[in-house]
Amino acid sequence: MKFNLVLIGFMGTGKTSLGRMLAFKLGCAFVDLDQKIEADSGMSIPDIFRSHGEDYFRQLEHQAVEEVSKRRGIVIATGGGTVKDPRNVELLKNNGLLVCLTCSVDELLTRTAIKGERPVLDSQHQARGDRRAAIEKILDERRQFYDQADYKIDTTDWSPMKLVDDIIKIVRSRES
Ligand code: S3P
Repeated sequence: MKFNLVLIGFMGTGKTSLGRMLAFKLGCAFVDLDQKIEADSGMSIPDIFRSHGEDYFRQLEHQAVEEVSKRRGIVIATGGGTVKDPRNVELLKNNGLLVCLTCSVDELLTRTAIKGERPVLDSQHQARGDRRAAIEKILDERRQFYDQADYKIDTTDWSPMKLVDDIIKIVRSRES
């Protein structure tokens, strides 16, 4: 690949799982931004939020984007909120193809049911007292950011092999 393949989208849409599979199939490196932030800081994402707050996490996230976007020909899985920062979108789009993964709210509810792993969703859940309402609220706020993707792929019907093939077809079509 001459460019990076960048997966964006809401929490639980499958960015990390599909990203890893895509990199394997394409024979290239894979970087998961959240895992990079955890490795670089030596802290888990929930711990970063707890000890330093969201703004600090977003700074670390931006630094990670600055670093990985210098690379070429890799698959990058972003965090659900990475594209809220226009600087990140600009850097990632500069040499990358942005594919947004989408999913129904019902399925997102199931996939993000475990509490304690996703501080943004947990705090919105706490504020609203309802997890579905929390997901819908965040989705609503972020629609404009996810709409900046070059392509959208729905992952509600979780068939990873087919999804990987569909995304690889998109990559190939952009290479020729
Ligand atoms: C976040 C999503 C998480 C992680 C952090 C913030 C968000 O990544 O970056 O908890 O704001 O949507 P996943 O989308 O991989 O869960």
